[in-house]
Amino acid sequence: MATTRSAGESAVVPIAATGLTKTYRDRPAVDGIDLTVMPGEIYGFLGPNGAGKTTTMRMLLGLVRPDAGSVRLFGRDVWTDPLAARAGVAGIIEEPRLYTYLSGRTNLRLLAGYDREGVGDQEIDEVLETVELRDRGGDRVSEYSQGMRQRLGIAGCLVRRPRLLLLDEPANGLDPGGIRFLRGLLRRLSEQGMTVLLSSHLLAEVQILCERAAIVAAGRIVYEGELDELRHRAGLRYRLDTPDLGRAAALLAAVPGLSEVEAGPDYVGFAVSDEDDLLGVTKAFAGAGLLIRSLVPEQLTLERVFFELTEDPAPVVEEARR
Ligand SMILES: Nc1ncnc2c1ncn2[C@@H]1O[C@H](COP(=O)(O)OP(=O)(O)OP(=O)(O)O)[C@@H](O)[C@H]1O
Ligand SMILES: [Mg+2]
Repeated sequence: MATTRSAGESAVVPIAATGLTKTYRDRPAVDGIDLTVMPGEIYGFLGPNGAGKTTTMRMLLGLVRPDAGSVRLFGRDVWTDPLAARAGVAGIIEEPRLYTYLSGRTNLRLLAGYDREGVGDQEIDEVLETVELRDRGGDRVSEYSQGMRQRLGIAGCLVRRPRLLLLDEPANGLDPGGIRFLRGLLRRLSEQGMTVLLSSHLLAEVQILCERAAIVAAGRIVYEGELDELRHRAGLRYRLDTPDLGRAAALLAAVPGLSEVEAGPDYVGFAVSDEDDLLGVTKAFAGAGLLIRSLVPEQLTLERVFFELTEDPAPVVEEARR
């Protein structure tokens, strides 16, 4: 954890948050969230509506004061050292803040001026080009479509040349083409060394871009780590076909290491935490003289795991930290 790292090491950690907590009207919106994001990664922050993603991101950026916990960006505390902590950090929380009566280009000039001097027209044009708004840069933002505003918001981040970018549900309001464009852009930025924290309520969105993610439900982290690891765990459910399903369910219920035994219409399903537990299954069936017609891993989609994790806020899957 960040607190045990030396000062030199923690300075390279883009986000190190510990114990973040925020309660609104006696209702915990965020309840003890720890988050570590490493340099150059696109880190996913996943959770259903109301899970606490936006509140967490506001605290990460120092826009909301946590009731407890702390945030360090590149080793600097967001509350005690806000200017240094937020240098080189850009983000969009929910909607980009734009001056709608000004042109896209003027908005970018103003934003660039926040933390850089002498940003020339050519650079502004290049950023407009990057978000495919070059030909509309002179138009007022009030005349932009929602997707164009989203892209201008991202341009407003890029023009500040951040090394850390926080994007809260950036795919909202984008059409499939816009989403594809955003993915390509984030990949390029990450290849150039930028760190990105990307929140979404859509697993598919995060799965495409992120190797690691935190899944949050009811203000708590219910999974943190590699998405591949989650996929692997998802595969540890099996379906067994046998001539006597009723007897099979009773046999399986007594096998050590098995859980969630449930009878389907023409199979019995169960979960194991370790593949070796399957040995107990074959032994039990051999002992009872009951035939196993087939025993196949159930291809649980990650989507279902996500749903199960976030439906039941208790940490079903233990944390898989690096
Ligand atoms: N300013 C506020 N005042 C009162 N309650 C708030 C405030 N901001 C957030 N909340 C509450 O905190 C909880 C978490 O909200 P938050 O906006 O962080 O969720 P979210 O994960 O971003 O959801 P969504 O996917 O819908 O954007 C919700 O119950 C919300 O009502
Ligand atoms: Mg939100």
